[in-house]
Amino acid sequence: MKILAFESTCDETAVAIVEDGRKILTDQIFSQAQLHAVYGGVVPEIASRCHVESISILAQKAIEAAGISRKEIDAVAVSYAPGLIGAVLVGVNFAKACALALNVPLIPVHHIRGHIAANYLAYPELEPPFLCLAISGGNTMLVDVRGYTDMEIIGCTRDDAAGECFDKTARVLGLPYPGGKPIDQLSQGGDDSRYVFPIAHVEGSPYDMSFSGLKTAVINLVHNAQQKGEELDRAGLAASFTKAVSDSLVPRTMMAAKELGYHKIVVAGGVAANSRIRADFTAAAKENGYQLFVPPLKLCGDNGAMIGAQAYYEYLAGTRAGSDLNAYATMEI
Ligand code: KG4
Repeated sequence: MKILAFESTCDETAVAIVEDGRKILTDQIFSQAQLHAVYGGVVPEIASRCHVESISILAQKAIEAAGISRKEIDAVAVSYAPGLIGAVLVGVNFAKACALALNVPLIPVHHIRGHIAANYLAYPELEPPFLCLAISGGNTMLVDVRGYTDMEIIGCTRDDAAGECFDKTARVLGLPYPGGKPIDQLSQGGDDSRYVFPIAHVEGSPYDMSFSGLKTAVINLVHNAQQKGEELDRAGLAASFTKAVSDSLVPRTMMAAKELGYHKIVVAGGVAANSRIRADFTAAAKENGYQLFVPPLKLCGDNGAMIGAQAYYEYLAGTRAGSDLNAYATMEI
């Protein structure tokens, strides 16, 4: 079954064609990051307008690159929540029109379910149940994935997402948006014990996380140093900050896996590209005897293939959208 899938929840316009949930026929992505970089973050209206400009061009390119005819498309899928509402609306409306024109079913996909499903594309042997840590620019959550379409959030950030914390830290250090990769690069060879940052614990909710205190601690440290004219150890700061994020994510995930009885751990989302977090997960999984699945770098960030992958399992479960499908800024998984 070939699914034409759309993703437009933030600043990537992406169109993919995926076969049977596991095989990418094409994965076209246009990142708007450079357009937003001058503002130091995503400007929602610019994002929406840019999706409008790119989406039909990418859809055409996807069909050509997959080498299939339009008649071979069996369904259309779209990421319909959560995200920047104006941006999500572009994908939803375009996908509805495609489904109508092609006379095929329309499948709505939750964006975070899509991030989790990116791992199905990379690991043919991976099947639920498993525990997943989804870490992206807008969301940070621990998900109990009982089945392909049966999942529950067991913990999440109470404030900022991990990716947002990377982006704000990068901004205060004068690094470009999106800041995760530049921080990752800056931290290489840095001393991770150079600065001590807080790791938050939420009283009574051991699986919940919080990153706003860490973000504020970094901002205060940088501003104080600037006011006093002190030189900062930038590599040490990036390494110490990344260690604090990783120490907030990895032990908590291991604890949840142990308590829920999972031996399979999946990591998903843009922040899963971080080299330190990947290394810490690899070491912790080995130490605990768990199987670890982390997407290859190109499938960590937003892409259309992950939506096509999840859409296949949503289709099998009977999920269909009517022509009145809407977009949503927030939604339970
Ligand atoms: O999953 P994603 O592409 O978009 C959302 O669905 O939000 O994630 C984007 C986030 C950004 O905050 C970006 O800075 C972060 O992923 N990111 C990283 C790295 N590469 C991207 N964070 C840490 N280390 C990286 N190497």
